[in-house]
Amino acid sequence: MAARLPKHIAIIMDGNGRWAQRRGHSRIFGHVRGTSRVKAVVREANRLGIRALTMYAFSTENWSRPAPELKVLWRLLKKYLIRETEELHRENVRFRVIGEIDRLDPEVRAVIESSVRRLSGNTGLQLNFALSYGSRRELSRAARLFADDCVAGRRRPEDMNEELLREYLWTSELGDLAEVDLVIRTSGERRVSNFLLWQAAYAEFFFTELCWPDFEPKHLREALEDYSRRERRFGGVGPKSLAPPEKFAKL
Ligand code: FPP
Repeated sequence: MAARLPKHIAIIMDGNGRWAQRRGHSRIFGHVRGTSRVKAVVREANRLGIRALTMYAFSTENWSRPAPELKVLWRLLKKYLIRETEELHRENVRFRVIGEIDRLDPEVRAVIESSVRRLSGNTGLQLNFALSYGSRRELSRAARLFADDCVAGRRRPEDMNEELLREYLWTSELGDLAEVDLVIRTSGERRVSNFLLWQAAYAEFFFTELCWPDFEPKHLREALEDYSRRERRFGGVGPKSLAPPEKFAKL
């Protein structure tokens, strides 16, 4: 297996609708199959010792989908949590949600809160679902919360810096795990789609043509193999590109 593992992987589970339509089914069938893929990938990430896994299950933009599709997506999420929470507990997985939780139906929220509580004492993989999530919303909310704190006298405008901004993001409770190392996107699309823009500032990206309902643990391992070959420089120069000092002397 990959020698160098990412601490935090984020997955854009894309292509459920196209996967189903190519097979003559409704888009909804694609979401059903897509949901059934989540379990094995979560388990594999945990088995491999990945510390955090964030799955983009519903974006702020997804609210514009037809009502019957929305209904199915929320039902699938509820069913997944009801069915899997005990298994996740046995596997020592912690769980939380990032996004506009207040917008969700109270029944969905209750199921989420119950899973979060049940899994809160665990120390294995930190599993996050991004629900009604959008980075622009997250950043504008952070700006508003900071402004509120300034008006209330708890902060001064000059306090703002990168460290402090992190505390106002939905990922603040992840601490040093908030930083994303690897983003995987399925379905051949090569976009970031408003996902973890701040947290993935230095992430590596892995794109696969497979649609999410075809994504299996072995594909996660492939992404990790690929990641282990990347040279991460974080804006600096890596050991492979370091020129001998005499080269600089001539400049
Ligand atoms: C993208 O496919 C997928 C989504 C918008 C939803 C992802 C949700 C799931 C896999 C189910 C959620 C369940 C859990 C347990 C997290 P798309 O519909 O945009 O596909 P398309 O691009 O082919 O239309």
